Amino acid sequence: MCGIVGYVGPRAALPVLVEGLRRLEYRGYDSAGVVVLNGHGLESEKSPGKLQNLEERLKKRPLDGTIGLGHTRWATHGGATEPNAHPHFSCDRRIALVHNGIVENFAELKRGLRGHRFASETDTEVAAHLIERFYASERDPVRAVHRAVGLLRGHFAFAVIFADHPDLLVAARLNCPLVLGLGEEENFIASDIAALLPYTRRALPLDEGDIARVDRAGVRVFDRMLVPARRPVIEVTWGAESAAKGGHAHYMLKEILQQSETVAAELSGRVDAERGDVRFERFGIPKAALRSARRIAIAACGTAWHAGLVAKCAIEELAKVPADVGFSSELRYGDTPFDRDTLTVAISQSGETSDTLAAVRAAREAGSRVLAITNIRGSTLAREADGVLFMRAGLEVCVAATKTYTSQVMNALLFAIHLGRVRGALSRARARQILRDALALPPKVQEVLGDDCAVLRCAKRFLRGYDYMYIGRRYNLPTAYEGALKMKEISYLHAEGYGAGEMKHGPLALVDRRMTVVAIAPQGRVLEKMVSNMQEIHARKGHLVAVTTRGHPIAIAEETFEIPPCEEMFSPLLAVVPLQLLAYHTAVGLGRDVDQPRNLAKSVTVE
Ligand code: F6R
Repeated sequence: MCGIVGYVGPRAALPVLVEGLRRLEYRGYDSAGVVVLNGHGLESEKSPGKLQNLEERLKKRPLDGTIGLGHTRWATHGGATEPNAHPHFSCDRRIALVHNGIVENFAELKRGLRGHRFASETDTEVAAHLIERFYASERDPVRAVHRAVGLLRGHFAFAVIFADHPDLLVAARLNCPLVLGLGEEENFIASDIAALLPYTRRALPLDEGDIARVDRAGVRVFDRMLVPARRPVIEVTWGAESAAKGGHAHYMLKEILQQSETVAAELSGRVDAERGDVRFERFGIPKAALRSARRIAIAACGTAWHAGLVAKCAIEELAKVPADVGFSSELRYGDTPFDRDTLTVAISQSGETSDTLAAVRAAREAGSRVLAITNIRGSTLAREADGVLFMRAGLEVCVAATKTYTSQVMNALLFAIHLGRVRGALSRARARQILRDALALPPKVQEVLGDDCAVLRCAKRFLRGYDYMYIGRRYNLPTAYEGALKMKEISYLHAEGYGAGEMKHGPLALVDRRMTVVAIAPQGRVLEKMVSNMQEIHARKGHLVAVTTRGHPIAIAEETFEIPPCEEMFSPLLAVVPLQLLAYHTAVGLGRDVDQPRNLAKSVTVE
């Protein structure tokens, strides 16, 4: 949600900080600030609103210095105002701090800080004053941060700068992501690898409870007992260009259009169609555990939860093992019976979603093994899970997930096929058929992407629409949910995903000529039933838009988005593409902020 950038090295810090913040904009924020240390002490500038507002101020008042911190804030405690924007300072303004997360016991701590003057309504500021208090007695920045952190409850990542230490930044992490970027004679702190891409590919993710000293010459990490600790360095494979729009009007469009490549990347080297097998590199879950699992529990949020629903269908069809999909925000309370016989699959693009991490911890505590499907190496989820399937979607900048959804779905389907083979529930012959069809998917995705005339027409026609309903069944019930979610999050139009068979149990009452119903009705087991449900809409004068298989039109649909023929289980990958484009063109037509929709953040690190 919030973003942190820190720099120490030979360069002017300000451009590095601003560029880093720009690369973190996608996470969602409503104010921004920087602090730089120079001969005048700690100098800072902050501004509510977009980063551009801060840049305007910095043009009038540039800040010199080769060490500093930057922050984008997503308001929790106190509005998006200048005083609440980070950095926050100690009373003597010789310590400044930026923070992601929430300090839950800030009110209680504030009461104990008698004599300190507070300038904001934030929970964060209390941490700056606590560090000031401990620094007064310790005179050692790391010890002061360590003692302060010991009193805080909640989840946080901090970066701190001290006027007395012109070559030092201190970083601390508890349940919020923070990485160090390792350069030559320069080092970085960031809440997200994206901020580091122009400068270094070597990243060191901190562990929970870690505190780090970061100076020009290097970094030193200490664990929660302040014992020096070694943490693995990861090489980031994404290029700096992945954080650029590449000539497209929005990141979202760029990312939608990348999907034939990203689906191909997911398949590459994993599919042996001749043998009917799927292979994963460094999978981490023993085959014996896949065989003995009596239940699969899937935990995820939002779009990832929709991918989980596709996974459930495929796991039950191909591996014949019961699978449940839960919202991580519900599973986290631990009432769900995870146990040794349950394999938990956690799906999270960012690998940092607080609810999913909590659900995973509850599952592991109950003895369940956890397989993660995530896009981010070094993420908390990847580090805490027993096994990982790394998605190969590359950096996704737009807040609304598109290419990472199809990557999640592709990984989930490959996992289901693997599970089916390992458990002996899926024959080699059938697996061969399925996998041959999988290998043919990338050009099919490309075909759907190239055919957006109907989508454009439809977006224009229903732009001022009253309501959208998306309906589907079986593999494409999640497509209905996902199509509706995309529409609501970026266009702000009301859109609901619903089981087609459930319409007559209530929502049919909503249907009249003001309602647009998008029916996901490709070839497959449930097509006839879908057509019957569409008739029910038609009879009540709802506008019908259909996603159908090429060559199988449904006459009552006013608009049709065609997808090429494929195995039913792969149809969600193709059917979602026109729905992503429909949401995109509608949002553009309505003049919305497509890449950073209001009130939303890319990585949801609060409960
Ligand atoms: C919607 C969207 C969100 C995320 C959700 C989970 O477009 O992106 O619904 O899917 O916040 O995020 P991850 O996958 O990072 O756990």
